[in-house]
Amino acid sequence: MDAEKVARAYSSPNWWYDLRGFLILHLSYRDGLVPLVNFFASNGSARHLEIAVGSGSFLELVMVCRKLQRRPALRGVAMDYAPSMLSGAVRRLKREHGWTVERADAAHLPYASESFETANIANALHSIPDAAGAVAEVYRVLRPGGTLAVNVVLVPRGGKISRWIADRIARWGMRKGILVRPYEENEIRQLFVSRGFEVLKTRIRGNDYCLLAQKPLCRS
Ligand SMILES: C[S@@+](CC[C@H](N)C(=O)[O-])C[C@H]1O[C@@H](n2cnc3c(N)ncnc32)[C@H](O)[C@@H]1O
Repeated sequence: MDAEKVARAYSSPNWWYDLRGFLILHLSYRDGLVPLVNFFASNGSARHLEIAVGSGSFLELVMVCRKLQRRPALRGVAMDYAPSMLSGAVRRLKREHGWTVERADAAHLPYASESFETANIANALHSIPDAAGAVAEVYRVLRPGGTLAVNVVLVPRGGKISRWIADRIARWGMRKGILVRPYEENEIRQLFVSRGFEVLKTRIRGNDYCLLAQKPLCRS
């Protein structure tokens, strides 16, 4: 699958995309919206890169969460490859100060090396055809000491029924082109470690693997 195919797969209206995403989060990832928003709200800065921002609805929740937690405001660049998703992000982020929204491919970021302090990839690494390329690129554009928060949907685990439901949703997502594939936990950890990231924190809830990683201050 290539980035153009994914962009075509993500061409639904934003309201349907948001509703579908909520159902997928609960039935496929089997995670909760509040803990997931909280996880991403913990990683942010005034030089932030939001990779694969989608319609911007999740980022908007993360920004509200940061305000409630009295954390410094998030500012920076939000990008995605699908034009119809980006239209929602443009509409939402124009209400906020200090944001640029643009079309780019996560595996070929058009930004200078070491230009961001933090980056988030929310609900999207498993939808990016060249996931290894995207990890390499986010490593390049983060400054040394910069941090990345990411979550990835795992190969379904848990009880028989919930596993069956998550498996059906994953197969449907792959047929539709909105999911490349679910991953194994070790595979994802390895993807980041092999690129040079240090893993600071991980947590698994349902089929959702959340990872907070850091680009080391100096390479050994
Ligand atoms: C499930 S959505 C998640 C969007 C958003 N982060 C959220 O949590 O609602 C996955 C997103 O990844 C984007 N995407 C897939 N491949 C991409 C690529 N190569 N470069 C940039 N965005 C990509 C899709 O267009 C889609 O908006």
